[in-house]
Amino acid sequence: MVSFKQRNIISIRHFNKEELLYILDLASRMDHMDHTDMLKGKVLASLFFEPSTRTRLSFESAMKRLGGMVIGFAEPGGTSTAKGESLSDSAKIIEGYCDIIVLRHYLEGSAQLAADVVKIPVINAGDGANQHPTQTFLDLYTIQKTKGTLEGITIGFLGDLKYGRTVHSLAYALAYFGAEMYFISPPSLRLPADFLETLKDRKVKCHENESLMGISKRLDVIYCTRIQKERFADPIEFEKVRGIYRLSKTMLEEFGIKDGLKVLHPLPRVDEMDDSLDATDFAVYFHQARNGIPIRKALLAAVLGAVE
Ligand code: CP
Repeated sequence: MVSFKQRNIISIRHFNKEELLYILDLASRMDHMDHTDMLKGKVLASLFFEPSTRTRLSFESAMKRLGGMVIGFAEPGGTSTAKGESLSDSAKIIEGYCDIIVLRHYLEGSAQLAADVVKIPVINAGDGANQHPTQTFLDLYTIQKTKGTLEGITIGFLGDLKYGRTVHSLAYALAYFGAEMYFISPPSLRLPADFLETLKDRKVKCHENESLMGISKRLDVIYCTRIQKERFADPIEFEKVRGIYRLSKTMLEEFGIKDGLKVLHPLPRVDEMDDSLDATDFAVYFHQARNGIPIRKALLAAVLGAVE
């Protein structure tokens, strides 16, 4: 039997296919369930050491919609981190003030580190370039809702596949569903070799390309990503790839698309996706962002034991 009660949500690798589908089903059932007392008396600590709009606000909104309370911060400058307090000490202190921690941090492995020192559940809201598991749940939910199935899709990941943590998590999850994957990036932003090897070991058909040309016609889903400027050690390396892709309606018309194509993007976008796409049938990224609410309601309710 699937149970998320008191579990940490650190990496999508910790969940099997049945568990992924359980959360998607629960999210669907909870989508229009608002203003309940399901999490009355529970406190979420929302700890964001890196900027966020969607993840932080949808977690906080989800908690409040289920009757819970939220404490926390949107940037660490006003906390004792600025005086040199370690993440581990901060987590041990904050554990005494809440029932669950949602953590975004620039260091890979930070969510696991926090989970290792506290007894309450920790949800990873993005740790460096590593993982963003709750984004993956909402990406899967969006694909399932808009394509009608998760099974056997062909997906093209476009952009920054090296630092894009949402790509790392989603590719791993889609391997459960027999996806064929195209990884389209400049050579310097290719998917890290260990991720690619893991996918190949799991019998995923993987292809690496530098352009969408000749490929877009095969794709059920394009997952476009921002080049993660903040993760480059050398600004000159960023300048070499800045603006390298600009997905637009004209480009897709010119290259050709498969019927029913859907374009996802975890957002925010900068210059990699033209707003000419917004009014097309394939643009689903604003729905995708909105799906953060049902997914995060489902995860909070399941982890805090409010649903079985
Ligand atoms: N998709 C995503 O993680 O967005 P934010 O950085 O705004 O949370």
